[in-house]
Amino acid sequence: MGKRLNPRHLISIDDLQKSEVEQLLNNAASYKEVSTREVKKVPALRGKTIALCFVEPSTRTRASFEIAAKRLSADTLAFQAKGSSLEKGETIKDMAKTLQAMKIDALVLRHSSCGIHCQLTDYNFSVINAGDGTHEHPTQALLDLFTIKEKFGYLEKLKVAIVGDILHSRVARSLIKILKLFEAEITLVAPPTLLPSYLINPDLKITHSLEDVVQEADVVYLLRIQKERAALSYFPSEREYIRFYSFQLPHLQKLKKGAFLMHPGPINRGWELASEVADSILSLIDEQVENGVAMRMAILSYLLTGEGGS
Ligand code: NCD
Repeated sequence: MGKRLNPRHLISIDDLQKSEVEQLLNNAASYKEVSTREVKKVPALRGKTIALCFVEPSTRTRASFEIAAKRLSADTLAFQAKGSSLEKGETIKDMAKTLQAMKIDALVLRHSSCGIHCQLTDYNFSVINAGDGTHEHPTQALLDLFTIKEKFGYLEKLKVAIVGDILHSRVARSLIKILKLFEAEITLVAPPTLLPSYLINPDLKITHSLEDVVQEADVVYLLRIQKERAALSYFPSEREYIRFYSFQLPHLQKLKKGAFLMHPGPINRGWELASEVADSILSLIDEQVENGVAMRMAILSYLLTGEGGS
């Protein structure tokens, strides 16, 4: 078989037109039903091979992609850096060349290096960014948008507060981009030290206390404190962080009627939010995970066949 002509990639939200995002939202809505069937499988990607390579830790993104690929009848090949030739010093490009020789159709890659996916776009398979360092996490943004649309029925002009460790968050970067396509009113809520300077611009409101947004926001999106990226050294103490940025039980009462809480997971109970808040009916955390499978089915089938729907 010859070279697949121009395989499509999803590396950044910038790769998508607004119309394509809308198409993915519609396709995810149809794919969601597949997971409720007795036999949770459709033949959309039969005969395709999808490699899943996670060089950074992951539970939900990796499981979600693998389940999505399997529900579309694709064959999957999952591996981590540990135990692969990356550990022996093989470069990511040589790994890609090897996978190309095995005729894979897509590579889902999580990696600690920002922008690494851009080095892999000349191979014969689609490249999907499952998180690159602190840079982007486009599939998370798409599943979050799908979850918001499902709850509100619309996206335009929703008030979304993004709270916490914005500096280290690839989720926040992709989410801001996708919400802007729908003219959401975004407020960033973070200590000054956890706000990257390039986000300080007239398009985004900024505040340094959760109290300022909790009564107005339609969605309060909490971000994990990225301890593995030394986030704890960016503010004076745990007590101080919790006082200004942690979503506690009294905040639940103050939320506007119809408003919801979101978090990409994994959560640090007691840090970004109180344990009872995480488990409350206003938390969409489980819906986000459920919708992740449907959205990733939509993404895989869109990239690999150009089609959607089940
Ligand atoms: C996010 C990630 O890995 O960027 N998690 C996820 O994919 N569900 C957020 C995080 O780890 O804080």
